[in-house]
Amino acid sequence: MQPKKQRVLLILLILSSSMAQMLDPSEIALAVGMAVGAVGVTGILSRSIFCYIKECCSPVWISFNRTRLETDLDNRLFGQHIASRIILKAVNGFMSNPNPTKPLVLSLHGWTGTGKNLVSQLIAESIYSKGMKSDFVHLYTSTFHFPHRHMFNIYQLQQWVSGYVTNCEHSLFIFDEMDKMQPGLIDSIKQYLEYYDNLDGVSYRKSIFIFLSNAGGDSITKKALEFRKAGKSRETITLKDLEQTLSLSVFNDQNGGFFHTSLIDKSLVDYFVPFLPLEKTHVVKCAMAEMKARNLRPNHDVADMVARDMIYFPKHEGVFSSTGCKTVQHKLNFYR
Ligand SMILES: *[C@@H]1O[C@H](CO)[C@@H](O)[C@H](O)[C@H]1NC(C)=O
Repeated sequence: MQPKKQRVLLILLILSSSMAQMLDPSEIALAVGMAVGAVGVTGILSRSIFCYIKECCSPVWISFNRTRLETDLDNRLFGQHIASRIILKAVNGFMSNPNPTKPLVLSLHGWTGTGKNLVSQLIAESIYSKGMKSDFVHLYTSTFHFPHRHMFNIYQLQQWVSGYVTNCEHSLFIFDEMDKMQPGLIDSIKQYLEYYDNLDGVSYRKSIFIFLSNAGGDSITKKALEFRKAGKSRETITLKDLEQTLSLSVFNDQNGGFFHTSLIDKSLVDYFVPFLPLEKTHVVKCAMAEMKARNLRPNHDVADMVARDMIYFPKHEGVFSSTGCKTVQHKLNFYR
């Protein structure tokens, strides 16, 4: 009990004992009981009032909205039929399980601008009222947080992660640019991703870890081109078609943060999520969505101009946007 509450209780006790001469014992018991109850209720009340004003690690601020994630994936992510399906299934399954046995670990792979950051943001927004601005959502960008190849501090990363999860077990960690992260750094948090009940009294099983990387982008693109050349639509590409080539290329990428980590061979990653390279039609959709988000009337001609301004590869076919939808926002400013 906090000192302040103790003082209140003491005063109440003194008051009730001074009344004791006038009252009989059962009435005293009742008075004391009411006093204790009042203090307790005040405590709960002030905590919940506090939580209405400021973000807390409680359902008021943290609760999963499946409808929101589903509609956002439908309306804001383009050309990713495989990724959107896996993400919805994975997050929904995890969030509706009251007793997960391990944290949810997602690894998103694909070229820049294909929607990996967007998906992380949509997941955050479907769980935390404050979205990416939540105190319980932590974004690490390799080149920003861990810039020096040989000066990283494993201990500090562990302290961060365990500190944040101690503070709130429903924490979300996003590690961007995994392919630029020093090999070994991610190994230092491996223990948190495993099937432990708790480590030093902290349970990590309700947290979510998302890794973003370009690793595997090449092999995904190769597969997408194969389908195209065979005259098959990209929507017929399945996870199975990509899974093996993806995990092989991720594991063999000697520069990536995954290299030589045991994340993969110990199956700590629950889902490898491939992001397909985007075509011109998708860039047009991104531009239309961006105009809508800025409360402008979506203009197809402008969107088309933005899309035509992108660089497409492979050189001769010119099929896929080399930066996906990444530069759409800047280009829109230019064409409007
Ligand atoms: C869930 O999301 C949908 C769509 O964004 C919204 O209409 C609905 O009010 C949300 N539900 C809750 C409980 O916040």
